[in-house]
Order: sequence, then C-alpha cells, then structure tokens
Amino acid sequence: MSLTRELDLTGRRVLITGAANGFGAAMAQRFHEAGARLILADIEEQPVTAVAAKYNAEALFFDQADLASVDRLATQAGAVDILINNAGVLVAKPLLETSLEEMRRTIDVDFVGALRLLQQVGRGMVERRRGVILSIGSQTAFCGGENRAVYAAAKAAIIQITKAAAVEWGPHGVRVLCLAPGRSLTRMTVQTTQEGKSGDRGLARVPLGRWGTADEVAKMALFLASDAASYVTGETLIADGGYVHG
Ligand SMILES: NC(=O)c1ccc[n+]([C@@H]2O[C@H](COP(=O)([O-])OP(=O)(O)OC[C@H]3O[C@@H](n4cnc5c(N)ncnc54)[C@H](O)[C@@H]3O)[C@@H](O)[C@H]2O)c1
Repeated sequence: MSLTRELDLTGRRVLITGAANGFGAAMAQRFHEAGARLILADIEEQPVTAVAAKYNAEALFFDQADLASVDRLATQAGAVDILINNAGVLVAKPLLETSLEEMRRTIDVDFVGALRLLQQVGRGMVERRRGVILSIGSQTAFCGGENRAVYAAAKAAIIQITKAAAVEWGPHGVRVLCLAPGRSLTRMTVQTTQEGKSGDRGLARVPLGRWGTADEVAKMALFLASDAASYVTGETLIADGGYVHG
C-alpha cells in the first residue's frame, strides 16, 4: 500500500482533547485534512465549538480534573478509533513556591484525568480489538527543567502508563503511544518564554536553533496515529529539535 494511503484516516473516528487551542487545534486541522471524523473536546466551550465548526466536527465539553466528567466524555464519544489524549495544564513555578492546590491541579489534569480517559477509551478499543491512543507527554519528562517540577513528574507518569498499557493491549490490537514535544510557542508557553521564565536553559540548547510549532507536533501525531506507524507501540517519540541531547 502506498504511504499516502497509510496516512489516510478516511472514516476513522478521532477524539482529540484540548482541541480548543495550540496543539489540539493544529491536530484537528491535520486530522481533518487526512479525512478523519473528528470529536473535539475541551473545557473551553466557545473556542472548541469554533474549531469544530471549521472541520464539521462534533464539540464536547469536559473537565479533565473531574473524573465523572472524563467518564461522561468517554461515553459521549462512543466508539473511537483514535484517541489523542492532549489536554493539559502547566503551572510554571519553582517547586518551593508551588502550592498544594497547584500540585493537585497539575497531577489531576495532566496525569489522573488523562489516565482515566486512556483507560475508559482503551476499554472499548480492547473490546473491538482495534485502536490507537496517543498521549501528549513532554520533553520535561526526560530532562526536568526549572519551574516544571510537578508538570514534568505528571508527564513522566504518562510515559510509563503508555508502556504498560501497550504491553497489556497489544495482543488485543491496540497501539498506545506518547509524543513528547519540546517547547513550542502556544498559549501555554508563550508568556513564560517572553517573560524569561522559560523553565530551561533556552534556545541556545536547541540544536535545530528554534522552538517548535504546533503544526510540527500535529504532523508527527498524524504519523504515529496512522497505519504508517503500525509496528510502533509503547514508544515515546521526543520532538524537541534535539534539546534533550544538547
Ligand atoms: N506548548 C508546549 O511547548 C508543550 C510542550 C510539551 C508538551 N505540551 C503539552 O501539549 C498539550 C497541549 O498544550 P498546548 O501547548 O497546546 O497548550 P494550550 O494551553 O494551548 O492548550 C491546552 C488545551 O487544554 C485544555 N484544557 C486545559 N485544562 C483542561 C481541563 N481541565 N479539561 C479539559 N481541557 C483542558 C485547554 O482549554 C486548552 O484548549 C498539553 O498536554 C501540554 O502539556 C506542550
């Protein structure tokens, strides 16, 4: 089969969380171009409705910090072929200044909520004996980084779950993957980058000499979720311009 056909997602039902902004909105565009039928979910109702309107997609609202809401989303979304587990938050603060509430919020959204969605959507995929789950981790899971302590720990946990779920669900035809981007200038990072509270040693450490873009993340997500990556599971792909090796 041609590579173009393997990258084609015509007819596949794809649930993308955090689709109102940044990576999620960029992935909505690329997956739409690839022919997918999109279900776009976010806590921000008006922005996700606007993105959904562009791609003839269904918009669903949920709060990833609220497990009842995550379960409702999994039910409402129904049988999906691909889950892009992307919604997340960043509290960019030194560890000693991070409150218990901020720690809990980060862990609840970036780990527990994402884990629960992976579990609930994965359950249906295992029953149907097909599916792909791609979670969005972070380069910080590998290298830590100033002002990223709890966030980096939550993202590291997602990487471990990816490996374990891939081993359990591989025999049932389900691939489980993680994509770990480096800094890309979305709403999440643009402010801390401009203020110099960047949480790392900066651009000089990126061998490719620039930050990433949301569309570069979206294209890599499309590849990993497609049949072109059919023999890859349990893996985390770092897309960071070489930062972790710098
Ligand atoms: N931008 C970067 O440099 C970068 C790097 C590595 C990883 N990431 C990860 O990529 C993912 C997307 O980030 P982004 O850069 O596009 O940021 P963003 O802030 O532009 O988008 C995040 C989206 O998640 C949604 N969201 C946040 N909390 C939610 C909740 N409780 N329930 C439901 N939706 C919620 C937001 O409304 C938003 O639409 C996140 O998981 C983030 O941690 C980002």
